[in-house]
Amino acid sequence: PVVGLSMPHESAVLHVTGTALYTDDLVQRTKDVLHAYPVQVMKAHGAVTALRAEPALAVPGVVRVLTGSDVPGVNDAGMKHDEPLFPDEVMFHGHAVAWVLGETLEAARLGAEAVEVELDERPALVTLQDAMAAGSYHGARPLMETGDIDAGFADSAHVFTGEFQFAGQEHFYLETHASLAQVDESGQVFIQSSTQHPSETQEIVAHVLGVPSHEVTVQCLRMGGGFGGKEMQPHGFAAVAALGAKLTGRPVRLRLNRTQDLTMSGKRHGFHASWKIGFDADGRIQALDATLTADGGWSLDLSEPVLARALCHIDNTYWIPNARVAGRIARTNTVSNTAFRGFGGPQGMLVIEDILGRVAPRLGLDPMELRERNFYQPGQGQTTPYGQPVTQAERIATTWQQVKENAGLADRRREIAAFNAAHPHTKRALAITGIKFGISFNLTAFNQGGALVLIYKDGSVLINHGGTEMGQGLHTKMIQVAATTLGIPAHKVRLAPTRTDKVPNTSATAASSGADLNGGAIKNACEQLRGRLLQVAASQLGANASDVRIVEGVARALGSDAELAWDDLVRTAYFQRVQLSAAGFYRTEGLHWDAKTFRGSPFKYFANGAAATEVEVDGFTGAYRIRRVDIVHDVGDSLSPLIDIGQVEGGFVQGAGWLTLEDLRWDTGDGPHRGRLQTQAASTYKLPSFSEMPEEFNVTLLENATEEGAVYGSKAVGEPPLMLAFSVREALRQAVAAFGPGGVGVELASPATPEAVYWAIQSVRQDD
Ligand code: MTE
Ligand code: MOS
Repeated sequence: PVVGLSMPHESAVLHVTGTALYTDDLVQRTKDVLHAYPVQVMKAHGAVTALRAEPALAVPGVVRVLTGSDVPGVNDAGMKHDEPLFPDEVMFHGHAVAWVLGETLEAARLGAEAVEVELDERPALVTLQDAMAAGSYHGARPLMETGDIDAGFADSAHVFTGEFQFAGQEHFYLETHASLAQVDESGQVFIQSSTQHPSETQEIVAHVLGVPSHEVTVQCLRMGGGFGGKEMQPHGFAAVAALGAKLTGRPVRLRLNRTQDLTMSGKRHGFHASWKIGFDADGRIQALDATLTADGGWSLDLSEPVLARALCHIDNTYWIPNARVAGRIARTNTVSNTAFRGFGGPQGMLVIEDILGRVAPRLGLDPMELRERNFYQPGQGQTTPYGQPVTQAERIATTWQQVKENAGLADRRREIAAFNAAHPHTKRALAITGIKFGISFNLTAFNQGGALVLIYKDGSVLINHGGTEMGQGLHTKMIQVAATTLGIPAHKVRLAPTRTDKVPNTSATAASSGADLNGGAIKNACEQLRGRLLQVAASQLGANASDVRIVEGVARALGSDAELAWDDLVRTAYFQRVQLSAAGFYRTEGLHWDAKTFRGSPFKYFANGAAATEVEVDGFTGAYRIRRVDIVHDVGDSLSPLIDIGQVEGGFVQGAGWLTLEDLRWDTGDGPHRGRLQTQAASTYKLPSFSEMPEEFNVTLLENATEEGAVYGSKAVGEPPLMLAFSVREALRQAVAAFGPGGVGVELASPATPEAVYWAIQSVRQDD
């Protein structure tokens, strides 16, 4: 079968030769395009008391200034109706209050500069502390409870409390937000958008324009990265472009430059956690009481589901019999934080991993040992704190054991001990961490997918599905699924760009579920077509349909030498007037979730994996290197091993960036730039690059891992590997500890930049 073959990404050649088209490349192929430019207000908070567009209209080349009074429908770009598209209150530094359309980008830019905005400035809550001190919260306040927390603490031999605040992360996709909107002769709006959620972009555009959804079509060709940042944030940009096109009758292009993208779009939520944890005398967790506060930014966007996923992952791979975890969302005057690979899961898991890493020395246990003692155990009927049985708990230990072996743990620990004894100013450490990540959207309704598969008379196949391609290789996998189900080679199958007029009401390509949901739908459509074609083949081959197989493009009946080539089979079917197109549908069965009681079984299954990372830290500077990484990750039966290994490597590196390099900074002073994002470019925001790659990087996919009930036995892979990067952070913590006397819990900031590592070393030395 074609699934399971190591195939290159379907656009790999286009990517590496620079010929792959992205939304904004289409501008050159479009006539009479107008360019949109935002009027950003450079204050963190204030009411707009006057907005004068006339000076802009005097600028040569300016065609129109879009303001709130132009909106025929609803002036809102969010799903929670708290995101005015043209706001009369500036909520963060860089908030756009109007957009200028120009014949050229430069004309639009000069026009935007000429627009006069008057502001009645208000105090701004820039940091999470500011918001918590002011009691500024919005949205749901979930509470997850299990067992009896008081009894749990009463039974605890050791109780620890602490706080932990950690930073968010910029998506820094290579392609910034982009939309290109056109209106045809009947008023139909067509928008090309770099969006992970075309159906929702369509919905928001329709609301803003005040038209039914059937007047709006959204297409996504491909994205130059999304990472969650294009799950909800593209809607408003698409709506501005669509509004401009509707009002001028001309195509409108809106593409943010990097600074605009960084200052206007949401990021991964930073969190604050306060916690109390109890262990029995053997180091087994008895109780956890925690409050997680997410920095939601100015509007809700996806903060509620992100927070829910954080709560649902605070257990990670550990059984916590008694727990009370509260969540809340701070409202700050910053960009509206949003989905980012892992969708809150990494934040929840980071809290428990940080706790274990910190308290292990105080329990007198090796951190590896402490983690192992707390793993979910198979066959014990253990459930997560929200009540879902932990199936496949054995994979937590299996991937862990395999990684220990692959990493040669015992020998290397000896080598590291010897190295550290001989080097007072350089220390090495090796840490292992594991993951358990729930697959499916918490909101059950989102767990559906659709597809449309067309077979043409010449035997070529065109597939459409509701998922979007952002580099993760979804389209490659979908071609493999279609080819496998139909029994034909992959080159017979072509994939069309994602469009809302081909497959309606799709879910975001998110929660790593793109292949599960859309693969299920494509398989379903192809099974319908195969069923019809088997009938045709059976009559041609003089056999029963149940005895016919189509393999590598040839139909054969069992026990017969007669053959029928795929192209001939299709042509025959056409002449017999057999329908050669099918719509497919898939929904994940067996899910339930009650957001109010915060209980249920929201996930179809869990993805597991483990990573062993060795670092070397320089005691004079805090600078470090990742010497070696070994990963064993569970993707079920891989649909496409090359793609999956790429996802594991990329996810891990992105996670390491979040935890150790990438440092978002805002101006928190009381001066004129209060609330300004200070890290507005790659020059000040450190992304992982080749020089920070692990010197040795071994990724193994868990073998014999068939996942029953998922498409061709595969498991989702997009997000979970990001969290394997906890091993980098824990290794850094242990290397820092090696500079001190031992036995103390090292507190490490997140991100653990070289600077943060340096200060952690200093504090360990002072304890000396
Ligand atoms: N990989 C690449 N190259 N680019 C991306 O933008 N996004 C990640 C992940 N891997 C992303 C990526 C995120 S946030 C998700 S949810 C999944 O891919 C989405 O795709 P899938 O559901 O097909 O795995
Ligand atoms: Mo991914 S954060 O679910 O788009």
